[in-house]
Amino acid sequence: MASLSEPVDGAFYKAADAFFAQNSSTGLTFDDVSLATLFSEILPRETNLETSLAESLRLQIPIVSSDMDTVTESRMAIAMALSGGLGLIHYNIPERQQLSEVSRVKNHIHGLIQEPIKVTPDQFIGDVIELIETKNFSFSTFPVVDEQNRLIGLLPGHVLKQRYAAKKVSDAMTPRAAIHTIRQSELSTDPIDCADRFFNDHIGIHKLLVVNDQDRLCGLFTLSDVERITQESRAQLKPARDNKFRLICGAAVSATRGANGELDKERIAAHVGALVERGVDVVAVSTAHGHTKGVGDTVRLIRASFPELPIIAGNVTSGAGVEFLADCGATAIKVGQGPGSICTTRIVAGVGIPQLTALYVASKAASRRGVKLIADGGITKSGDLVKALTLSDAVICGGLLAGCPEAPGQIMEINGKLYKQYRGMGSLAAMKAGSAARYGHSIKDTTRKAAAEGVEALKEVSASLDTVLTQLVGGVQSGMGYLGAANLKQLREKARYIRVSPAGQRESSPHDVIEVKTGAAESQS
Ligand code: XMP
Repeated sequence: MASLSEPVDGAFYKAADAFFAQNSSTGLTFDDVSLATLFSEILPRETNLETSLAESLRLQIPIVSSDMDTVTESRMAIAMALSGGLGLIHYNIPERQQLSEVSRVKNHIHGLIQEPIKVTPDQFIGDVIELIETKNFSFSTFPVVDEQNRLIGLLPGHVLKQRYAAKKVSDAMTPRAAIHTIRQSELSTDPIDCADRFFNDHIGIHKLLVVNDQDRLCGLFTLSDVERITQESRAQLKPARDNKFRLICGAAVSATRGANGELDKERIAAHVGALVERGVDVVAVSTAHGHTKGVGDTVRLIRASFPELPIIAGNVTSGAGVEFLADCGATAIKVGQGPGSICTTRIVAGVGIPQLTALYVASKAASRRGVKLIADGGITKSGDLVKALTLSDAVICGGLLAGCPEAPGQIMEINGKLYKQYRGMGSLAAMKAGSAARYGHSIKDTTRKAAAEGVEALKEVSASLDTVLTQLVGGVQSGMGYLGAANLKQLREKARYIRVSPAGQRESSPHDVIEVKTGAAESQS
């Protein structure tokens, strides 16, 4: 129902177009503005934070962990996906190692193991023991198949003893007739539920093998995986999975150049191809300046070779930059130049736009081109996230997550406090480790005089990712409740902004009290 005060409200609290037009001569960032409340019938817990970065890439929460070498490797990416977000594995590691990191995420308990490790009947038990040791397998039960991949037995872990090393697998395996199997065609649309019911009905059985009509092995369920997944389904934050029920995972790729300074097209295509083979859900062409020929050509090359693959590209802060990358084939564009907590681009290069203005400008172009927008950098609290999401589809966080145990790096103690390293990808140390191309330098430059655009820093060790994300998500849900927004689309539609004076900013934080307890999640370590 229209309220009598609405005209007054409208004169002060403006929708994005009117607000940013009125403030077009000033670059604004999160703390410069506040959002106005609106009539609400929505409780925070009723809000839906789902978002999509491409048709095939849906997230349960709009949070992505940054592709930085002190933020996202497989452990962080697994934890992000388990909480419904997305991790982008950084590229400051050899390509083969990045592939293994992606595989770790994609193979992390997905209920139905579609390509279980198998053995053959004429192998020796000793060979299998050696296989487990060299590959560092954490399991010891193996399906036994013939040359046509037909199931002929199951090798149980308890026979894998040195005393049987010279015996053949066929002498030690449980024969086909005694193995529990299910036909692939009998699996319902919810295979985990199917397996869960099977394990309920078969006390003491821990493995269920899936076969096709020719009795060829198609997969394996284990009781422990199924139990972990059913527990997950009761967790507050739901996992983000692909259509094969695997956790989603992204990987950053660089606009790699050869010795002649030209883009190394073959190497880029081969690397992306290998990532796709491992099941990567999205690649991110991550650079400090995305509105460039090199980044455009890299995106075009990937788009031409992989028409269906979601591509994130950036970073830009202009409408022209968004349109350029969208026209090259990117599905989602990263916005942010210089807002990051470890960034010095604005100081070193004198370039960059305060993040909220950059997001608004970029959002106009993004809606014209029908691409998604990701706000990258500068998020220090959940309120920033809410403001960023009024103009974007998701946010990338670095510093907020770098203190979590899931981030790579050792914990160090200084004066009784625990810290983890957090460094800019444009810091000299990170560029030496591989990220020089992201800042338009070659690795050789880093031994000479490339200007660093990031600092090496420390973050206090924080609580686990799950706890940090629960706090952030809770904040976003509160914001949505205040605006009466049931989902992120409504949040974008309903946002009304007002500028905040320096005194208003001071008023926004606790003041005139002695704080005895912060609202932040506490570390468990
Ligand atoms: P936050 O604020 O979440 O920012 O710590 C993370 C984002 O900062 C960007 N990034 C850099 N920007 N110099 C820069 O100018 C750097 O060395 C640097 N390293 C990371 C990046 O977009 C990241 O997601």
